Amino acid sequence: MGNVKDGSEYPSLARIPAHVGMIMDGNGRWARQRNLPRLAGHRAGMEALRIILRAAAEFGIPIVTLYAFSTENWKRPQHEVQGLMQLLGESLDKEVAKLHENGAQIRCIGDLSPLPDELQRKIHDAEELTRNNSGLLVNLALNYGGRQEIVKAVREIVALGVPPEEITADLISRHLYTSDLPDPDLIIRTSGEFRTSNFLLWQSAYAEFYISPVYWPDFGKKELYQALVEFGRRERRYGGLTDSTE
Ligand code: IPE
Ligand code: IPE
Ligand code: MG
Repeated sequence: MGNVKDGSEYPSLARIPAHVGMIMDGNGRWARQRNLPRLAGHRAGMEALRIILRAAAEFGIPIVTLYAFSTENWKRPQHEVQGLMQLLGESLDKEVAKLHENGAQIRCIGDLSPLPDELQRKIHDAEELTRNNSGLLVNLALNYGGRQEIVKAVREIVALGVPPEEITADLISRHLYTSDLPDPDLIIRTSGEFRTSNFLLWQSAYAEFYISPVYWPDFGKKELYQALVEFGRRERRYGGLTDSTE
């Protein structure tokens, strides 16, 4: 691969996933390693996100869904939760204009209603500003939980009075936040943890998982490229058979 610094050449990839989910984990441990407060890790994580979004667009990934705050993350100390909300708002202030300029579309999934009003407003403005853009779709999962999402879908379907025989997997998919998106082909989790932590439970049925040992703030273009190379080697069978297994 030669020079791996940003801006250098990366050999073209066999397959590009249509949709990549990222569980951005390890900010706290990254900070602890450096004797910094956890929020410094989250701040570094936002910087990593900026770099990853640029790299994703360069590699030609059409859709990324980023796990930024789970329905369980409210259990953390108030100070950390508040700091995270503040940081999200600051990042939107700093990055939205640039993302818009680059043609990115910003969307959020999750129950945004408990978020601070100001943050909700910023999210709404970013979504409105970028809604007609056709570049990278940046889907931010905020106060998102896969179980909460499925409960929401079931409630909507029941409220519509749908008869049991008309309830299908496709109908449930259409009531998820991701109703108009393809399922993720690849889910990347950083920091070496092997679990979903309630991320895209329904949609990840046939996603390929890639676990990187690197903490999220250190996950850069080179690491994303490695994940995409590995994805290109995976044999996806969807329960069927392929030539090499026949
Ligand atoms: C991921 O990093 C960011 C959020 C969950 C908001 P963590 O804060 O979970 O970092 P670790 O797992 O404690 O290292
Ligand atoms: C998952 O990470 C949530 C996000 C990255 C936003 P956590 O750090 O919250 O997950 P657990 O607690 O280790 O499972
Ligand atoms: Mg974590």
